[in-house]
Amino acid sequence: MTKLQKRNAPSAERNKVPIGTQLATILPQNAQVLEIASGTGQHGAYFAGLRPDIIWQYTDIDMDALESQKAYASENTDVNEDIGQLKLPLNLDVTKENWWQDLANFTNIYCANMIHIAPWDAAVGLAKGAGKLLRAGDKLCLYGPFLFEQDSAQSNLDFAENLKQRNPEWGVRELVDVETLFADNNFHLDQQITMPRDNYLLVFHKV
Ligand SMILES: C[S@@+](CC[C@H](N)C(=O)[O-])C[C@H]1O[C@@H](n2cnc3c(N)ncnc32)[C@H](O)[C@@H]1O
Repeated sequence: MTKLQKRNAPSAERNKVPIGTQLATILPQNAQVLEIASGTGQHGAYFAGLRPDIIWQYTDIDMDALESQKAYASENTDVNEDIGQLKLPLNLDVTKENWWQDLANFTNIYCANMIHIAPWDAAVGLAKGAGKLLRAGDKLCLYGPFLFEQDSAQSNLDFAENLKQRNPEWGVRELVDVETLFADNNFHLDQQITMPRDNYLLVFHKV
């Protein structure tokens, strides 16, 4: 049997520490976390190490990403039983209709660096599904770069331009649009935490 390959993204290696420091205090005891767009799986593996009480569900649409997540999860669980802290990844596309319908019992949702590297529909799908899955008081954490109209960081304006060149449907999102989208799906923005390199951790709670 070939060994599963864990992938390593330098950016995830860098930002997992400051994000983990925040999440460790935000997530409730015994949180059941649904991660949307887990990428390599580095974040979940690191956060699960910080908080042995939580359960972490990996997901993505990309086959290589799912393979890497499985490699991280297999270090933490028996892949036949899937009883560990890191749950085997689910192939999940938040632009699909009713993507949330077979999922249950999550107390939190975490999503990093997806909504700018995907069409706006992905943000819409995330907010809609989160609104269906979470209950009043549950928290959703969204990490990445955001624009603040005329007060945007130059690095994020440059990044927005770069993304648009790569795909006209991608782009760093205006915080006000993201806040409105989530408000339309019954989420209130509680915290806007400034993170290294002009990134932010947004913490919403379901109303
Ligand atoms: C830049 S990576 C971020 C990975 C990881 N969250 C991190 O911060 O290192 C963006 C991820 O979003 C996933 N993605 C893009 N569109 C998606 C969608 N519609 N539904 C779910 N995941 C999606 C991609 O496959 C990719 O793994």
